[in-house]
Amino acid sequence: MAFHSNVFGSGVVAMVTRTDTGMTEPFTIAIDGPAAAGKGTISKAVAAHFGYAHLDTGLLYRAIGAKVMTGSDAIEATVGLRAEDLEVDGLRTAEVAQAASKVAVIPEVRAALLDFQRAFARRAGGAVLDGRDIGTVICPQAEVKLFVTASAEVRGKRRYDELVGRGDTITLDDVIEDVRARDARDMERVEAPLKPAEDAHVLDTSALSISDAVAEAIAAITQKLS
Ligand code: CDP
Repeated sequence: MAFHSNVFGSGVVAMVTRTDTGMTEPFTIAIDGPAAAGKGTISKAVAAHFGYAHLDTGLLYRAIGAKVMTGSDAIEATVGLRAEDLEVDGLRTAEVAQAASKVAVIPEVRAALLDFQRAFARRAGGAVLDGRDIGTVICPQAEVKLFVTASAEVRGKRRYDELVGRGDTITLDDVIEDVRARDARDMERVEAPLKPAEDAHVLDTSALSISDAVAEAIAAITQKLS
């Protein structure tokens, strides 16, 4: 793919690689789940705990969605995606999330992101990837798969608090509606629909605090490692 000629070949990997444990064997932890389930927080904590690199694959789709919102063609935006596109302000808004889930149904967009994600997953030193299709399509051979979920109301409230904390003006009902709309689009698409891999450990965080959810994820991974 054209990624080899842009920063996808190295820049993004460099940007998201935060640790170096000296471990040389690849080891992939796939963390999937619906919108605002806590995947990001859990993934970052897991990556820090085990000293692995972390890739937030949702950010790739958000960056493409943001470009489409300003008039770009989705496939051209994907092929031309650069590391700095993942750092622009505003990628975490509800509007960009909707745009992301719309470009995420396009098979060519998903196909163009495949090699980069797979290469990241098998990098030396271990990798945590979070998204929707990591355990099912990107890394079906991942050593550990978690499917993080929670009720739509709980997820909506968490995302609402996060967005309001960042200064967004939005209502709780609108956030829950956004979460439900994205879940439906993500689960019903033909290409790489959101669903737990058959061998995934399902982690329902509805009644868990963030620290308890992180502890449970680390315990599940530690069990797989031993
Ligand atoms: O943080 P949140 O769970 O709300 O969303 P995200 O992980 O940033 O993903 C945004 C959107 O990108 C999702 O609603 C999906 O449509 C899409 N996505 C995907 O299709 N496949 C992935 N591996 C990651 C994200």
